[in-house]
Amino acid sequence: MTKKIYLPSSLSKFEPRRMVFSTWVDHLPFAYDIIESVRPKLLVELGAYNGLSFFAFCQSMLENNVDGVAYAIDCWEGDKHTDSYDDSIYKGVQEHAREHYRGFTYLLKMFFSEALQHFQEDSIDLLHIDGLHTYDAVKEDFTTWYPKVKPGGLVLFHDVMAKIKDFGAWKYFEELEEEHDETFKFYHGFGLGVLRKPGGERPDNQLLDIMFSKQESDRDDLRRFYTHASHFMEAKRQVKRFKPRNTGAKQGGQGKVEPAE
Ligand SMILES: C[S@@+](CC[C@H](N)C(=O)[O-])C[C@H]1O[C@@H](n2cnc3c(N)ncnc32)[C@H](O)[C@@H]1O
Repeated sequence: MTKKIYLPSSLSKFEPRRMVFSTWVDHLPFAYDIIESVRPKLLVELGAYNGLSFFAFCQSMLENNVDGVAYAIDCWEGDKHTDSYDDSIYKGVQEHAREHYRGFTYLLKMFFSEALQHFQEDSIDLLHIDGLHTYDAVKEDFTTWYPKVKPGGLVLFHDVMAKIKDFGAWKYFEELEEEHDETFKFYHGFGLGVLRKPGGERPDNQLLDIMFSKQESDRDDLRRFYTHASHFMEAKRQVKRFKPRNTGAKQGGQGKVEPAE
């Protein structure tokens, strides 16, 4: 049997509009594609900071005509891993949201525990957990928010490969992998875990099929694919930073380049 080629839309049309420093950068193409696959009516992110992951989700919602709303929840004060930061970070995120994603994005500047009351049980299609990364914090974020996720909904966990300092997302996610049937993990960058809450109907979708396939070789191919996709995106970005230098001289195809503004 021949395999169907997986050609998601991140490859052909994703040019991230928001580019700020974050270790989330390695997962942007996947963020774009998972939104197109799940088409969330309700997306919630716990821990937005400068908005790199959040705005990749939002960009995909907009460009793939996903009719849903997206909430970013953060105290926007920082934590012991990011260190504290000033209000300029929140203001920058607010401005970007207003300029590009007005009407379907909401920023809740509060603690995760305070925001819980605003969401109904079984209502969230996609929850991204990216707050403080100690074992206890990730466990608390998952156990308190999991009831809010729809049966069949997805939970993403960042930093599941980061075995540094007192980071513990990796350990907690390993426990969840033991307990849950449908999980997936990217190893590149700082790692990204995916867990599907049991129940609901899984949409007929190639990305979800591969992620939760019983064929480990297919899952490995997907990991390789997104590792390349993130390198490809980074290479494209580097190339865009340069433009041909217009010296008037005829230099053929090997003309020198200089950084673009
Ligand atoms: C790792 S950063 C988020 C990174 C972001 N997703 C990105 O794409 O770069 C974690 C953020 O979670 C926030 N945070 C941590 N614990 C929190 C809590 N209990 N309530 C609200 N915000 C919290 C911090 O203020 C920080 O901005």
